[in-house]
Amino acid sequence: METRDRTAAVIGLGYVGLPLALALAKAGYRVLGLDVDGKKIDRLNAGRSTVIGIGDDEIRSVLDRFTATGDYAAISRADAVVICVPTPLTPEREPDLTYIRSAVAAMLPHLKRGVLIALESTTYPGTTDELIRRAVEETRGWRVGEDFHLCHSPERIDPGNRVHRLDNSPKIVGGATSACLEAGLRFYRAIVQEVVPVSSTAAAEAAKLFENTFRSVNIALANEFALLCEKLGLSVWEVIGAAATKPFGFLPFWPGPGIGGHCIPIDPLYLNWAARRHGRPMKLIELADEVNRRMPMHVVERAADLLNREGKPVRGARIALIGIAYKPDVDDVRESPALDVLDELAARQADVVCCDPLVPSFRHRGRTYRTEELTPGLLQGLDLAVILTNHSAIDVRLVVEHAPLVLDTRNALAGIPGGRIARLGEPALGLPAARG
Ligand SMILES: NC(=O)c1ccc[n+]([C@@H]2O[C@H](COP(=O)([O-])OP(=O)(O)OC[C@H]3O[C@@H](n4cnc5c(N)ncnc54)[C@H](O)[C@@H]3O)[C@@H](O)[C@H]2O)c1
Repeated sequence: METRDRTAAVIGLGYVGLPLALALAKAGYRVLGLDVDGKKIDRLNAGRSTVIGIGDDEIRSVLDRFTATGDYAAISRADAVVICVPTPLTPEREPDLTYIRSAVAAMLPHLKRGVLIALESTTYPGTTDELIRRAVEETRGWRVGEDFHLCHSPERIDPGNRVHRLDNSPKIVGGATSACLEAGLRFYRAIVQEVVPVSSTAAAEAAKLFENTFRSVNIALANEFALLCEKLGLSVWEVIGAAATKPFGFLPFWPGPGIGGHCIPIDPLYLNWAARRHGRPMKLIELADEVNRRMPMHVVERAADLLNREGKPVRGARIALIGIAYKPDVDDVRESPALDVLDELAARQADVVCCDPLVPSFRHRGRTYRTEELTPGLLQGLDLAVILTNHSAIDVRLVVEHAPLVLDTRNALAGIPGGRIARLGEPALGLPAARG
């Protein structure tokens, strides 16, 4: 496919859609970026980035080939349309396909014959076929594989990861027909080094869900083991580190204050929703979800216990939550366990201050929180600092030096001497290791 004469539309310019749009533009496509967020559209067209890790210079370098717009009529020029809109959960914790449905409804009247449609949003097996093939065939009267091509290609991007990027992560592609698969493989070969064909759109959808379920279950295992190590008087960090020296058959996963982001807490529940629909609920998914969701409360209990040992109640204690984003080196607070820790400490009337160099402010439960800079003065005025996310921009030595007491939930302070430090997955500060 000669990309220079071709136009690709990317629907949804977020963590997934924007890097994809840039990659397509760099590969020579003219790229239309569709979004419903007017501010984002203006910012991007002015050459300013909206996603951490993507510089303004990168946006400016493609502005001759990339235009952001809210006008779906522009899709009529597109040879390929890639859908990258959110797939969250409903309040009942079931798949919420509202965004896909509305993107599909908006693009349908404008599609041109012969278009390739690719869904990249993470979803349960069957969505591409049930929602998109059916809608295009019924509304436009076209036949898949003849009048239009359809694939699912799950995105594996790991925001903040400089090693594994879009271009060097193998890309799974499943087509609705063999002609669709061929069209999808040709399209993605222009932007990634390796494509991985699978036999159907549902296989591609399922592969992505299984990847993230694998992570969720293994993180839950590490979390549950961390709680046991606290009782056994062991360090979970030492024990998993030792186990990880096995050169085969073991992959280290680490405990933490809980899981967050738009993927790990959500995707396994999409898989389990499909499993329940077929009368085969996946018990490991349910257990992992339960264990992982309990971790923020465990962190609060550890914090309360540490303060208690100092003779201080949680009520009125000055506690800094360090790292609000759900993982290192991103500014994304969606589903972050820090928010649950914040809620619980606030309910116990602690005096909480949030610190995150990558998140100047965030909205939570209808309130805007401003984060504060970590300074010696702020740290010295605390009763407790809780490290929830180990961004590389956080000066952990400063924390150890100035905070009177630290609860480290990420082993961020490994190897740093001094300070009064308690760790998740290790026995409580000052206690002899409990045996038995
Ligand atoms: N964030 C990740 O690390 C990641 C990784 C792999 C896969 N995914 C999956 O990719 C999908 C997108 O996730 P994301 O993190 O990029 O989301 P995001 O919230 O960062 O971006 C989604 C964008 O879609 C826009 N949008 C919403 N409805 C729209 C509509 N009808 N038309 C046009 N634009 C619309 C929003 O304004 C937003 O800019 C999800 O299914 C997610 O599970 C995310």
